Amino acid sequence: MSEVQQAAAAQSAEPILVISHLAKKFGSFQALKDVNLAVRAGEVLGLIGPNGSGKTTCINVVTGLYRPDGGKIEYRGHAIGRQRPDELARLGVNRTFQVPKPFKSLTVRQNVEVAARYGGADLGRADVQELLEFLELDQRAEHSAAELTSAQQKMLDLARALATRPKLLCVDELGAGLNPEELSQVATRLRQLAGSGLALLVVEHLMDFVDQVTDRLIVLSAGKDIFSGLLAEAAQDPQVVEVFLGTADGH
Ligand SMILES: Nc1ncnc2c1ncn2[C@@H]1O[C@H](COP(=O)(O)OP(=O)(O)O)[C@@H](O)[C@H]1O
Ligand SMILES: [Mg+2]
Repeated sequence: MSEVQQAAAAQSAEPILVISHLAKKFGSFQALKDVNLAVRAGEVLGLIGPNGSGKTTCINVVTGLYRPDGGKIEYRGHAIGRQRPDELARLGVNRTFQVPKPFKSLTVRQNVEVAARYGGADLGRADVQELLEFLELDQRAEHSAAELTSAQQKMLDLARALATRPKLLCVDELGAGLNPEELSQVATRLRQLAGSGLALLVVEHLMDFVDQVTDRLIVLSAGKDIFSGLLAEAAQDPQVVEVFLGTADGH
């Protein structure tokens, strides 16, 4: 093994996020019953499952929007689950939203700057510029976020999350609504981020995108993980097939 390969192997051996027996209730409704997963540095873990299976709730709990009702979340060896989203962002945990909500009255650049401050990241103007270029938003930098297309708003949401310099990034249906060219661009970007050592938890229902982006995946069904492995294996798993065929839209 070359030094570079050794460094990569060492990096990929470090678990960034370990979730065990995670549970979350809304009133009497148990949205998460028993979720178990682990993501390593440099790895992209896909999280798929039908609509309502708890994918977004899982991200919401990991990133501090909701408190868990049971189970354990460990981030870089420390229990989390009681911290606020801004505290977690400062520790290196951030996310994108299924429906992005940028500050529409601010420019694209200002949105990224505000996010960096929120996450306590020391981003200079050159860093912000680099981030905007990475996500092809540099031409729109001085425009208000309200002027962006929905695909660009998704890229801005990703830029805002990256502006906090996360070590764990949760991505919620970033691909939805993008055209094939935009999808392939985003897929490349996410792989690049993983290549730089980020751990990614990617919720997505577009299977080609999942195939392109993820190293491995977890299938959720009614708040429980029912499968862990490769997409090709998932497609052969009777329980997984039933869960997807049993729903009207397969999301
Ligand atoms: N804040 C909430 N209050 C009440 N129920 C919720 C809330 N958030 C999610 N749920 C419910 O939890 C279940 C899982 O939702 P969600 O995590 O959004 O699913 P997914 O992202 O897999 O489509 C759904 O039945 C949803 O209606
Ligand atoms: Mg969702």
